[in-house]
Amino acid sequence: MIKDIVILAIETSCDETAAAIIKNGRVILSNIVASQIDTHKKFGGVIPEIASRKHIEIISQIIDKSLFKANLKFMDIDAIAVTQGPGLVSALLIGTNYAKNLAYALKKKIIAVNHVEGHICANYLENNFEPKFICAVISGGHTSLFYVKDYNSFEILGETLDDAAGEAYDKIARVLDLGYPGGPAIDKISKDADKNFIEFKIPIENSLDFSFSGLKSSVTNFVYKQKNIDFSFKKNVAASFQECVTNSIVKKIFKACELKKINKIAISGGVASNSCLRKKIIIECQKRNFEFNIPDVKFCTDNAAMIASRAFYKYINNEFYENLDLNAKARI
Ligand code: KG4
Ligand code: ZN
Repeated sequence: MIKDIVILAIETSCDETAAAIIKNGRVILSNIVASQIDTHKKFGGVIPEIASRKHIEIISQIIDKSLFKANLKFMDIDAIAVTQGPGLVSALLIGTNYAKNLAYALKKKIIAVNHVEGHICANYLENNFEPKFICAVISGGHTSLFYVKDYNSFEILGETLDDAAGEAYDKIARVLDLGYPGGPAIDKISKDADKNFIEFKIPIENSLDFSFSGLKSSVTNFVYKQKNIDFSFKKNVAASFQECVTNSIVKKIFKACELKKINKIAISGGVASNSCLRKKIIIECQKRNFEFNIPDVKFCTDNAAMIASRAFYKYINNEFYENLDLNAKARI
């Protein structure tokens, strides 16, 4: 019988301090996330210096909690995984440093994980979904399309030329005075609004790359020209913006499927928790009889379970850091 592989993962790339323990890349033994949203809310976005300090304050407790919840001790862990990047360097350093210290003290192997690849692997949690598939990673920091050929093989097909989709959501929410983070706020108020109130457009619809900065400017200019901004106006602008963003994402996912002759789809990242996008993917996949996976909302936004899942496939591929020179990277 093959031995179970149990991985403890740490994620601190932005404003969530997270630790998780996962068995064989898919079975969740614990998944703890401490969000700093309430702290950053009053600034309208994440302040890196504050994010790092908050990570330092809480990281030990979060790791202890993950062990307690899994009913395990440090010695039961086969390897320690950590997000190496991309992300805020000062925030990433808290996680990488902690992981290196743990690995050294406990004589455990250490696995460095790319945060974006982690988002892709959120699709393996608590299910049997397998490559090959097309995956859109849509978050506050990234918007990319991948051809996932195998567990350790990713081909990038397109990415954003300017802003990430989540960044656009957050900016438009600020323009409409809906608070931070903008994605959930826009998602909520768009539910009973007129998505055809105004037709916004995205210029590069024939490419697999994304662009949201032009859309951001169009929506902002449209709002600033308006004299009387009431709640119904805000709702309708938010819904029209969302219609444009989600249509662009869905269109490019199916374009990528056509290109790679693949009929299997996955999404991930904070924006993948958007109810309108999720509905569109389901409808379009059912229409075409495509197989698809949409992770539970708690696995779409930043978490360490997805990092542990990615680390499992690196573990079986023997991709470890043998020494302690692992460093955080803002970009990978
Ligand atoms: O993946 P994530 O937690 O962090 C990054 O790696 O960036 O994504 C955060 C982003 C934020 O921009 C947030 O506004 C957006 O995901 N988001 C949403 C929703 N929930 C979170 N965007 C649209 N609809 C949502 N329901
Ligand atoms: Zn993320």
